[in-house]
Order: sequence, then structure tokens, then C-alpha cells
Amino acid sequence: MTAAAVAVRGLAHRFSRGNRVTAALDGVDVAVAPGELVSVVGPSGCGKSTLLKVLAGVLVPSAGTARIGGHDVVGRPGRAAYMPQRDLLLPWRRAMENATLGCELDGLPRGQARLLAAPLFERFGLAGFERAWPSELSGGMRQRLALLRTFLLPREAVLLDEPFGALDAITRRQMVDWLQDIWLDDRRASLFVTHDVEEALVLADRVVVLSARPGRVRTVVPVPFPRPRAPELVTDLGFVALRRTVMAALAPYATEEGSSEQGASEEGARGPGVEPMRHDGPMPHDRPMRDDGDRGRGSGDGERGAIDQAGVDRGDGDDGRSGTGGPRRTGVGPDRRG
Ligand SMILES: Nc1ncnc2c1ncn2[C@@H]1O[C@H](COP(=O)(O)OP(=O)(O)OP(=O)(O)O)[C@@H](O)[C@H]1O
Ligand SMILES: [Mg+2]
Repeated sequence: MTAAAVAVRGLAHRFSRGNRVTAALDGVDVAVAPGELVSVVGPSGCGKSTLLKVLAGVLVPSAGTARIGGHDVVGRPGRAAYMPQRDLLLPWRRAMENATLGCELDGLPRGQARLLAAPLFERFGLAGFERAWPSELSGGMRQRLALLRTFLLPREAVLLDEPFGALDAITRRQMVDWLQDIWLDDRRASLFVTHDVEEALVLADRVVVLSARPGRVRTVVPVPFPRPRAPELVTDLGFVALRRTVMAALAPYATEEGSSEQGASEEGARGPGVEPMRHDGPMPHDRPMRDDGDRGRGSGDGERGAIDQAGVDRGDGDDGRSGTGGPRRTGVGPDRRG
């Protein structure tokens, strides 16, 4: 069996804030093979973003392992191209400078980063908008720009956290078709978080369904349809049946099913595991943190915080610039585009 490009095992995370503890994830196993796209769906607050933050290396989990390309990424950012749940475009940078931000933070001179980014503006439907400010772009264009910045990073894996969450249904559907094309050119191991079951199925090789908080893997649904997948696929009877399977697993009192892969929880049937707690509104998504409760966006997050390129904050109050790694270019991603 091929070694997983992305793998978490026994992942658990509890957030502590004062005397309030929130169990976000519990015993989650997920693996993504090279060249595979795996969607993650689950109720709001079940830990989807937490999972991606751990893999992005910006959140140190309470327990478990996280690996990308065989490397331990716990507390070590820089192995994945990560698009957080909010697009985090910087309003004071033009579209091109937003696109190149990640590469610049990697240590690439801006001029070189521009040379890499320029051809992608056409591909991402942004040709002619290189000098536009983010405020001059539509919602769909902003999302494409954030995706461009993400795909531009030469990383071994791509992590996308609800990239279309803020868009209307029609734009969203177009973006899914478009993302499929982009991804088919790229084929990097990817984890795609979404609330939209149809979107999850259209894009993925497999759909991981998480339970309500604390998130556990309820089931993993393989999606056998060949690519490219046409928009009409969603009316195919086989597709509709898969959709029903995922919806059933998402139902509040669904129980974990057996699964063909190690991703499914072995804990058997249990209730939804919901603690009486609301989702707390805006979270500090863009800052390395530890499980002792993040302190929100401090001053000085600035540009680095916008795409989680920082070393990990070990809770010592710095701005996230300490820690690991200097510039690294892995040679994957845009370099392979021909
Ligand atoms: N920094 C934090 N401090 C305290 N609690 C947090 C923090 N970040 C997330 N949580 C809590 O952990 C749980 C999981 O949050 P997470 O953002 O991972 O959920 P999610 O599945 O991505 O939700 P959504 O679908 O709404 O984006 C939620 O209950 C949330 O309130
Ligand atoms: Mg989220």
C-alpha cells in the first residue's frame, strides 16, 4: 500500500480557556494518499478547522500524530499549503502582492514570486486584476485569489478550509467545477473541508464524515466516479445514493459505521457526543497556538499571520515568528505545471 501523503492518527484536541474545556476532536484517524483529494464534512463546531490547523502545524494537539510526506508536522508549519476558513487577503496589498505573500514569507524575492504568480492569474480567472485591491474584487474573485496564493506555495499537500463558504449557491457551483479543473492539473494530496455534501462528493476520492463535537470519524465514503466529473453527475442515481449515505451519517443520532479504511472510528455506536456549548463565533484562525487557549490576534500578526506561515507559538507570547524552519521550497506545486 502506498504511504499516505497526509496522515493523522489518534488525533485529539481539547481547548482550555479559563476553567472551560472544549473537546474539539477525539481519536481521529484520517489518511490521504498521494494524488488523492479527501473531503471532510461534519456539523459546525466538530473540529474540522482544528484538524486542518494541526496539519498546517499551527496548532499543537493534545494527543495524536500528524504527518505530511512522512514528516512529523506537529508544531511545524511549512509542509502544507493551507487556506484558512477566512480568505485573509490583506487589504493593503494589491492582488498580485496578496498572491505572492506566501512565497515571500518563504524567503523568495518578490520579483521571483511575481514571475511564478503571473501566469496563474489567467488560470484563476483573475487576468487583468493583478493591480486591483481586494476591496475591488467580487467574493468569488477573492476566493480564487486566496486559492491562487495557496496553490502557488510549493508544498507537498493542500489544506482547504471551506474555501467557498461565503459564496452564493450559483457562484459556489461554478467554483467547484473550476476547482476540480485546477486540482486535476495539480493533483497534490488535498484535504477539503466543506459543509456542502454535494460539493464534498463532486470533488473527492473519499468523504470523511465527522460526528458532532468532539469530532470522531463516523464513516468514510469512497466516491468511485471517474474524473473529470460533469455538473450533471449530481443527478446520477449512484451519486444521489452516495449523497444519502453521507447525509445519513451526518444525522444527529447516526452511529459510526464500519469502513473500508482505517479512518473510521473503532468506538462503535454512541450518541452524538455534543456538549452543551455554542460555537463561539469568530475564532483566531490565523495564528499559531497551543492548547492552552489562544489569545487572539495580537498586534504584530501582520502579514505572516495571514497565511499561517509562522513558526509555532509555544505559548511564550511572541508573534509567531520564532520556531522552526527557514525558507524551504519543495519543488512540487507550481513548478510542476509545465
Ligand atoms: N481557539 C479556541 N479556543 C477555544 N475553543 C476553540 C478555539 N478554536 C475552536 N474552538 C472550539 O473547538 C470546537 C471546534 O472548532 P472548529 O473551528 O474546529 O470547528 P469546525 O468544525 O471548523 O466548525 P465550523 O464548521 O463552524 O467552521 C468548537 O466548539 C469551537 O468553539
Ligand atoms: Mg471551521
